Amino acid sequence: MASAPVSSIVLSVFLVFIATVSAQTAPAPAPSGPLNFTAILDKNGQYTYFLRFLADTQVGSQVQNQLNTTSEGFTVFAPTDNAFNNLKPGLINSLDPQKKVQLVLYHVLPKYYSLNDLQFVSNPVRTQATSQNGASFGLNFTGQNNQVNVSSGMVETLVNNALYQKKPLAVYQVDKVLLPEGLFEANSPAAAPSPATKKASGSKSNSTASSTAGEPAAADNSGSMGRNMGMGLVLVLALACMGFLS
Ligand SMILES: *[C@@H]1O[C@H](CO)[C@@H](O)[C@H](O)[C@H]1NC(C)=O
Ligand SMILES: *[C@@H]1O[C@H](CO)[C@@H](O)[C@H](O)[C@H]1NC(C)=O
Ligand SMILES: *[C@@H]1O[C@H](CO)[C@@H](O)[C@H](O)[C@H]1NC(C)=O
Ligand SMILES: *[C@@H]1O[C@H](CO)[C@@H](O)[C@H](O)[C@H]1NC(C)=O
Ligand SMILES: *[C@@H]1O[C@H](CO)[C@@H](O)[C@H](O)[C@H]1NC(C)=O
Repeated sequence: MASAPVSSIVLSVFLVFIATVSAQTAPAPAPSGPLNFTAILDKNGQYTYFLRFLADTQVGSQVQNQLNTTSEGFTVFAPTDNAFNNLKPGLINSLDPQKKVQLVLYHVLPKYYSLNDLQFVSNPVRTQATSQNGASFGLNFTGQNNQVNVSSGMVETLVNNALYQKKPLAVYQVDKVLLPEGLFEANSPAAAPSPATKKASGSKSNSTASSTAGEPAAADNSGSMGRNMGMGLVLVLALACMGFLS
């Protein structure tokens, strides 16, 4: 007598579980979950070089951290692995660590731009990269027939595929690494960095790096905990309904 309701409850719980899981996977990202910048690039599989640079230079965690507090948002141009493979061999390795950071920052705009915005933006657009005298390295955008080109002066390429486009973050694929002219011209020994700017940028990356450490993990935990609690609640409600109905 008692075994039939029990097994039907088990079955119902299982069905509810399946329904909950599929309901969660159907509408793309959970709107309440924290926005994860590297995950956007990670799931695609063709940005492994860029992801490595984002990690090595800590620009990735800087962006992730600031996403939460920025009112302007960010726009990121993600060069494909092919783009890195097409660079002159040794080009990146010839850069000192400071310049590698600038190269990655050059792919980040401190403002959210939809593809449509980029078509009509006024040039040059400020990036996160700065020259040794503190001026921002700019990018130029030209739009035509709903296509947008980005130019660094050294390279021009199409702004492709939007990997993510929702304020505060836009991530677009580019098929070339955007090389800032200033970074490769100023190789003369005469252009020694002023101690002031060097120190300022150094301490900046230091402080942001240390403040990133714990936070993303905490946000992740609370996110999945919220989801688990939500699912638990659904199960409890389902059980209660079953119990009262049968
Ligand atoms: C973001 O996703 C990556 C995997 O792509 C993961 O390693 C990382 O822990 C996630 N960070 C947060 C804050 O969820
Ligand atoms: C982001 O901000 C929300 C509230 O605005 C907060 O609940 C969350 O913990 C923050 N996440 C991080 C990683 O700072
Ligand atoms: C952007 O365009 C302006 C005006 O045409 C030009 O002077 C500048 O060098 C360009 N900058 C880049 C990064 O292409
Ligand atoms: C964009 O750049 C490509 C070369 O990469 C060029 O063929 C095309 O004409 C450019 N388009 C615009 C709108 O400037
Ligand atoms: C961080 O600061 C320490 C001194 O406090 C310095 O030795 C180190 O080079 C800095 N690291 C970076 C990445 O700027």
